[in-house]
Amino acid sequence: MTNRIRLGVNIDHVATIRNARGGAHPDIARAAQVATEAGADGITFHLREDRRHIMDPDLQAIRAATHLPINMETAATDEMHVIAMDFKPETVMFVPEKRQERTTEGGLNAAREHNKLVPMIRMLKDNGSRVSLFIEPDPVQLIAAQRMGADITEFHTGRFVELTLAGEKELAAAELERIADCAKRAIDLGIEPQAGHGLTYETVQPVAAIPELTELNIGHFLIGEAVFVGLEASIKRMRELMDEARA
Ligand code: PXP
Repeated sequence: MTNRIRLGVNIDHVATIRNARGGAHPDIARAAQVATEAGADGITFHLREDRRHIMDPDLQAIRAATHLPINMETAATDEMHVIAMDFKPETVMFVPEKRQERTTEGGLNAAREHNKLVPMIRMLKDNGSRVSLFIEPDPVQLIAAQRMGADITEFHTGRFVELTLAGEKELAAAELERIADCAKRAIDLGIEPQAGHGLTYETVQPVAAIPELTELNIGHFLIGEAVFVGLEASIKRMRELMDEARA
């Protein structure tokens, strides 16, 4: 399929459940393996400063469990930069991180982070990783990302999801249009456009249908749904919905 959109499966919340009891179950490597077998196109995780889900030894365990490209989400800190340089994931995605937040709350202020990010981006690229910035679907942020040398921008879909689930049809349509417009602009700027955050079976199709988007990163819903149907089935269903949206 030429127009296929990739699915990056974020497995953070397998580690959240594991850490609730402090043991080794459910095993993060098994999650990476099942996601690979179920048709994921990439494995994503977020190594947070407080290690609330993914922990340092998980990185090599995930690497050993899958042949898929790995997308490491991280804050732009010196500590994470050293870890990313050493781990050499296929992609490093910079996200804003606040200690008290439940999940990544908004996109990066790429323009404001310029001085900190530029040297990190250059070193990571020289080290063989592609670099992605998680931003709001906002042309100002997109242009800042391009100036900083980002290979990829992931557009935050959280607001679109919230508005859709709240039944705010017109506002959701406007937000979707912002994502679609930024995806087009990204292509013109030579940046690969991706999207993600908060996506569910109910909300994935309008986003997947945006033809310029190359990849969606989805985690919490897939792991939550796996409680009822299993991880393989939840990923396969998401894959089907994404394929339908592109058909
Ligand atoms: N993209 C980014 C940058 C994220 O931080 C997350 C959550 O870790 C996701 C995508 C996936 O979001 P969700 O877990 O809500 O599907």
